Amino acid sequence: MLRAMVRDDLAVLHRLHDDVGTAVLAEVDPWTPETLEQALARYDAYTPDPANVRFTIASLADGQVLGRCVVWGIDAFNRNAHLGISLLPQARGRGYGLDALRVMCDYAFRIRGLHRLGLETLATNTAMIATAEKAGFRREGVHREHAWVLGAFVDEVLFGLLATEFS
Ligand SMILES: CC(C)(COP(=O)(O)OP(=O)(O)OC[C@H]1O[C@@H](n2cnc3c(N)ncnc32)[C@H](O)[C@@H]1OP(=O)(O)O)[C@@H](O)C(=O)NCCC(=O)NCCS
Repeated sequence: MLRAMVRDDLAVLHRLHDDVGTAVLAEVDPWTPETLEQALARYDAYTPDPANVRFTIASLADGQVLGRCVVWGIDAFNRNAHLGISLLPQARGRGYGLDALRVMCDYAFRIRGLHRLGLETLATNTAMIATAEKAGFRREGVHREHAWVLGAFVDEVLFGLLATEFS
């Protein structure tokens, strides 16, 4: 399930940042070390931004925190936005990613009335590409050698989904 992120979630979610291999897949800024205390201070200083809606992904069965996701860059005039997602290693490959993506799409299209969602990922991110395609996203293009990742330039693949294509 997706729910509002609360301060206590950070104790678990901070592991996503500490895992450099995951962080470089999911974050665009260069990785720098950050303590849990610094992450909590950032959380406390955060001013809710209507263009970015963030969620914690938790298990419906036992409430365990599994990861986080965000509908970001909401453009209320053109009615588009982007999706981002990151699951803890032990939660991957079990259907949670696809499930969360679908719930975010439902939120964006049905609750927020958006028309188009974009999803950008590295060409090397097999799991994200498979999950996006499974959720109905279409491959729309590529930014060649767009990202510097672990010592090499990597293509970024652009996916898109229209409200009329979501079922
Ligand atoms: C990318 C991510 C969100 C996918 O979520 P997930 O829960 O692992 O994926 P799911 O189990 O829901 O799988 C969805 C589909 O993708 C396929 N898939 C998942 N991982 C795969 C992999 N490594 N290779 C090939 N296919 C894969 C599944 O087989 C499934 O298709 P199927 O139903 O036909 O079998 C998750 O792996 C993750 O958080 N990765 C690290 C952070 C990250 O890369 N975030 C994205 C940044 S853009």
